[in-house]
Amino acid sequence: MIECEGLTHTFGARTALDGVTFTVPKGEVFGFIGPNGAGKTTTIRILATLLAPTAGTARVGGIDVREDPEGVRRIVGYMPDTAGIYERITAAEYLDFFASAMGIARDARRGAIDRAVELTEIGALLDREVSALSKGQRQRLLLARTLLHDPSVLLLDEPASDLDPRARIELRQLLASLGRMGKTILLSSHILTELADMCSSIGILERGRLVTAGPIDAVQSALRPGRRARVTVLRDPARVPETLARFTFVKSTARLDDAELDAHGGGRFEVSWEGDAWRLSELVAALAAADLALIAVEPERRDLERLFLHATGGAP
Ligand SMILES: Nc1ncnc2c1ncn2[C@@H]1O[C@H](COP(=O)(O)OP(=O)(O)OP(=O)(O)O)[C@@H](O)[C@H]1O
Ligand SMILES: [Mg+2]
Repeated sequence: MIECEGLTHTFGARTALDGVTFTVPKGEVFGFIGPNGAGKTTTIRILATLLAPTAGTARVGGIDVREDPEGVRRIVGYMPDTAGIYERITAAEYLDFFASAMGIARDARRGAIDRAVELTEIGALLDREVSALSKGQRQRLLLARTLLHDPSVLLLDEPASDLDPRARIELRQLLASLGRMGKTILLSSHILTELADMCSSIGILERGRLVTAGPIDAVQSALRPGRRARVTVLRDPARVPETLARFTFVKSTARLDDAELDAHGGGRFEVSWEGDAWRLSELVAALAAADLALIAVEPERRDLERLFLHATGGAP
């Protein structure tokens, strides 16, 4: 649904985007991660046809942003990272203004607004002045505005910034339901952990280049081959490595420091193995059978923060 190929953009002498290539299939929630200045906003603005690429191509729903920007705009909803604030009007007037500015016919406007209001659950805010809304409430109003023309592709630039944890969860649920409706969503963020739950795939951007992109699991295994889990036993820790060494897919078993456990004759280990979760179940069965008083197995979380630092060279 979104295809970028060799996308490049220069502002004067500064190269903001340098040959970025990725695709986002229909119905996918794609997270764009990168530090400040990486080129996220530049990419999104190109996809929203607000900026022409210097080189390369970008297509949305098969339509080239340069050849038919009007066509792209019809199917795209763009939520900028900062929005003009129309302080002296109510939320209802705000939506009505944008619905007419977008060229939605008068008789269709009511229905379009009702649908967007219902999705974003801002019914209670409609009579309030925009200036009296909190950041999170404005963010939702902005999202409602983005949904007015029922776009099939959503481009959301940092939609979760300034949201409190509860509002983030609500946003995540909203994005998930929009995804289930078949909408394709691209969102950017530098708060990495929040993307792990919201997105089905990610692209990591750094200094205008795409470090990697794809489904989260695939990105993770490409960047950090093998999986890890921590196992804790209360008895005979010395037998843990030998028990696991029988499995050819186990790559390493490293003992971790844990003064209290060690003092009581137990031990904790980090195990890394090649393959899926079924293989971990084999390891757990073997440890349980070895009578070591196994009390905990903690698979490594899909830790985007570490993945990101690893991808961008900031951590092992
Ligand atoms: N209008 C502009 N004129 C000149 N340089 C620009 C312009 N807009 C962006 N840049 C530069 O392009 C690069 C990419 O900027 P961009 O806004 O795309 O980054 P970003 O990933 O969205 O960052 P942030 O996380 O801070 O929003 C930066 O080096 C920025 O300084
Ligand atoms: Mg930005």
